[in-house]
Amino acid sequence: MTTDMSHSADPFFEPYDRKNVAYGDEPTAAIAAFLDQVDGGGRAIDLGAGAGRDTVALAAAGFDVTAVDLSGRGLERIHERAKSGGVANRVTTKEADVRDVALAANTYNAIVATTVLDHIPAADAMRVWGQMTEALTDTGMLFVEVHTTEDPGSPEHPGCDSDAPISETAGAVINYFRPNQLASWAVDPKSRLRVLRYEERQEWDYTHGPEHLHGKAILLAVREGFYPDWFGQPAAFPRNAS
Ligand SMILES: C[S@@+](CC[C@H](N)C(=O)[O-])C[C@H]1O[C@@H](n2cnc3c(N)ncnc32)[C@H](O)[C@@H]1O
Repeated sequence: MTTDMSHSADPFFEPYDRKNVAYGDEPTAAIAAFLDQVDGGGRAIDLGAGAGRDTVALAAAGFDVTAVDLSGRGLERIHERAKSGGVANRVTTKEADVRDVALAANTYNAIVATTVLDHIPAADAMRVWGQMTEALTDTGMLFVEVHTTEDPGSPEHPGCDSDAPISETAGAVINYFRPNQLASWAVDPKSRLRVLRYEERQEWDYTHGPEHLHGKAILLAVREGFYPDWFGQPAAFPRNAS
């Protein structure tokens, strides 16, 4: 498997080369909610980190983050952003295929895979997922986001029946998750996880290229038996301030 990608072979080169880099500066909303509530620390890995919006937020919260991506241009942007954010000492980049990265068991306090398991074939995604669940520490958090068949880029129903605009980078998504697929992985006893948040939804995206719609599934989970004092999402029933 080659990890040496030329500019022309990298579908994300141009989006990451832009002044207004694709996916913007804000971390994924669910990561932002988690980071608002925890004191960061320990090791994190951002798989398919792109230009690093989640990597930099995790580092700013105190995690030592390894960012893995195939796109050399994305990783350059991560370096730039980490440096200007004063967190370069907490960010390591790795130009590699997530399928080739060995994740040591019980190692990471935060594992993030924001839309990468849908960029690799289903069987590979399942194998990487298995490693991710093993690599989580007993008190860590795991976040996964994937495109679903609701996405108008999907070749399957209902996405393929939609006339909503499609993402400029939809061509890189090859494995649209079916309804409940990510949820079923998470509740499989082999995963040894407790689900804190699972959602399948549609969302409009204005962070890159022309306006477009997405179908997404998101999952936030911890190790089974772990009951953290954070919510991991904006609190639905916050305590009244006294
Ligand atoms: C939709 S982008 C998401 C980037 C980032 N996670 C974010 O949310 O801003 C998908 C990323 O996955 C990367 N990617 C796709 N296949 C990959 C693979 N097999 N190994 C590593 N990275 C991969 C792409 O280069 C791209 O940066």
